[in-house]
Amino acid sequence: MRVIHRISELREALASHREAPAFVPTMGNLHEGHLDLIRLAKRRMAGLDSPIVASVFVNRLQFGPNEDFDRYPRTMERDAQLLEAAGCDTLFAPDEAELYPEPQGYKVVPPDVLANLLEGEFRPGFFTGVCTVVHKLFNIVQPRAAFFGKKDYQQLMIIRTMVRQMALPIEIVPGNTTRSPEGLALSSRNGYLSDAEKTEALALIRSLRRIQEQVHQLRTLEPGAASLADGAAWLAQIESEAKSGLAQRGWAPDYVTLRRQHDLLPPTAEQLTGQEPLVALAAAKLGTTRLIDNLEI
Ligand code: PAF
Repeated sequence: MRVIHRISELREALASHREAPAFVPTMGNLHEGHLDLIRLAKRRMAGLDSPIVASVFVNRLQFGPNEDFDRYPRTMERDAQLLEAAGCDTLFAPDEAELYPEPQGYKVVPPDVLANLLEGEFRPGFFTGVCTVVHKLFNIVQPRAAFFGKKDYQQLMIIRTMVRQMALPIEIVPGNTTRSPEGLALSSRNGYLSDAEKTEALALIRSLRRIQEQVHQLRTLEPGAASLADGAAWLAQIESEAKSGLAQRGWAPDYVTLRRQHDLLPPTAEQLTGQEPLVALAAAKLGTTRLIDNLEI
């Protein structure tokens, strides 16, 4: 695997391939979830002369002033070993001076309707930071396909929409969330958790599974037994139960909610009881660590 730090060098290296690369952007401190995306990319590119490129860059633009930019774990040597073992061909690891040689005045600002809800409500400017760096990385790498985990569900939806609206010739491929055997969604931020917190962290996915169960129960009621008029109240009730359940265990929940998969807006009463693809999403702080997770329904 080649490790490249400069944009010009990366462009030169990629020019020797017949096909455009497959791309897995990351902020490093890699875990099996990232490596699963590399493996997925490899399977997708089998038989093509398309190199697998991963990037490691901790993007200052997507961190708020009180967030963990400074303490975000930088583990480049280990990351490079893991990427190589998973079959990555090229690691692009620019420093800040290479990616942002001058203050990044031009930004990619996603529309409020996508970016000011859920994560965007609690992390103002987060998705502008993400879209700006991802768009810039896409311009540098010029991939045919890019791979993003469903763990960051809203990020995936916003990047898909950016690619569609900007007519970028890139296929966005989602990867399923990778979990520990107990069910904890893998995340670089899990490293901040103590052993006791790692066990407690499972309460987040349990609260989402409970919502999944409640939706299945609602959807299997006899037609007419579920009063459609009560849809919004039913939703408010299960969301508030889930939030207070976490709060009672000592969490500080930002949101636990049930949304439509395609636009992350609340479902109508008919969509709740019908076949609309839904997703339960949660974000909550356990101690000083903010965790997110979601479950498609
Ligand atoms: O999901 C991430 O790790 C980051 O948001 C990304 C997509 C690499 C952009 O910095």
